[in-house]
Amino acid sequence: MIGMCSSIWAALAIMLISPISPISADPGVSPALVQQELAPGSSFHVNKHISTPKLLPQPDVVLLVDATGSMQDSNNNIKANLRALISAVDAVQPNAHFAVTAVNSMRALGGGDWPEDWINALYKISTGATTFREGSSRIIVLVGDATSHDPSGGHSQGDAIDALKKASIRVLGVNVGALDEGGRATQITAATGGAMVGSRPDEATKAIIDGLQNLNVTITPEVVSCDAGLTVRFAPTETLVSSGATATLVETAELASDAGGGVDAPFNCSVRFLINGAPGGDAFVQKVQVTVKQPVATCLTCIPVPGQNLCHESTTCNPTPFGNMCLAAPGKKADGAADADLGTHWRLIWPGPNQHRVMVKPGVAATTDCLETVGSKVCDEILIAECKPTALDAVVEENTGKDQVVVGDGEL
Ligand SMILES: *[C@@H]1O[C@H](CO)[C@@H](O)[C@H](O)[C@H]1NC(C)=O
Ligand SMILES: *[C@@H]1O[C@H](CO)[C@@H](O)[C@H](O)[C@H]1NC(C)=O
Repeated sequence: MIGMCSSIWAALAIMLISPISPISADPGVSPALVQQELAPGSSFHVNKHISTPKLLPQPDVVLLVDATGSMQDSNNNIKANLRALISAVDAVQPNAHFAVTAVNSMRALGGGDWPEDWINALYKISTGATTFREGSSRIIVLVGDATSHDPSGGHSQGDAIDALKKASIRVLGVNVGALDEGGRATQITAATGGAMVGSRPDEATKAIIDGLQNLNVTITPEVVSCDAGLTVRFAPTETLVSSGATATLVETAELASDAGGGVDAPFNCSVRFLINGAPGGDAFVQKVQVTVKQPVATCLTCIPVPGQNLCHESTTCNPTPFGNMCLAAPGKKADGAADADLGTHWRLIWPGPNQHRVMVKPGVAATTDCLETVGSKVCDEILIAECKPTALDAVVEENTGKDQVVVGDGEL
């Protein structure tokens, strides 16, 4: 698709001189699913290992070679191994595209008059001489044995760096001689997130393969969705590794202290990992699933006998799966109590229409509206407790002498 193939290659038959070892890859995030039980207000940590691809995803690779006479050995090596190089890359990133061009063919475009005008060539490739695919990983492999003039074809090193960065192109320098004389090549590779590799001229292809597998990649976790009440965060929030390496991030999942639901459905978070800012695909998506560990509470019971139940008049003493308790009216909770104050009010593991009803301590008024009084989240802010029901006796004394109004006789 990039489709430029310089005439310097065209006349040459491509034959395999040295075998190129296959690139192996098994990229993705591990573990992809974490399931854990959490009490409201608590959190857990898990190490996430992100294995990066050996090669950047969807690579658009431009081989930019110096075609002067001194480069003969290196160019012969590349010509002879070009097909093998493409196959090796293709085996890992089948979506790879290649183009080959020569520094001096760019010189014609730019009007420079030196064979080593690769600063101008880099500038030209970044500013339209080559078309790159949308969202591709763009890499120019600069193979040479001599430094470039600066300025070159009217463009300075700074111009070239700006243009490369603007076009999101990294430069992989393959030095088969004195490419980095004066440090220009290193400055460009460093500024563009690329790399410099040295090579014997007759091993240039191997150096290219190694270099392509040795580019830094940033890994950034991005939360795709989280059910309200569950949050996840990562430390560090971004990391840099060499492609093919595995990064480890510590993930912390926290359940809000007022996460009241979770009895019927676990809380889910889905996170994807971006590789150099782009989604890495399905293998880089992970899920955290948290079931709520219901807090254990002493749920005070009442005696459903008029005159003995001690429930406040705004509540009724009713049967529940955990014994008789003072039940607030639908959509009401205890007056003047913190939502998480399980000694004063609580909800019960009571699947069905009563899941949202709030029980209160005998004697406590329950005339306060819950955050939501209609719909599926009524009184969700009150914790669902695993009750260890306790007889009222314990609180009778505490309430003795108070004005108890006797109401209700067991009707829900
Ligand atoms: C690549 O990352 C390593 C750390 O993992 C760092 O030392 C090096 O400078 C980085 N190279 C570039 C070109 O950003
Ligand atoms: C979380 O995912 C599970 C399984 O995919 C699903 O059954 C459950 O309903 C989800 N939880 C929420 C709150 O949507």
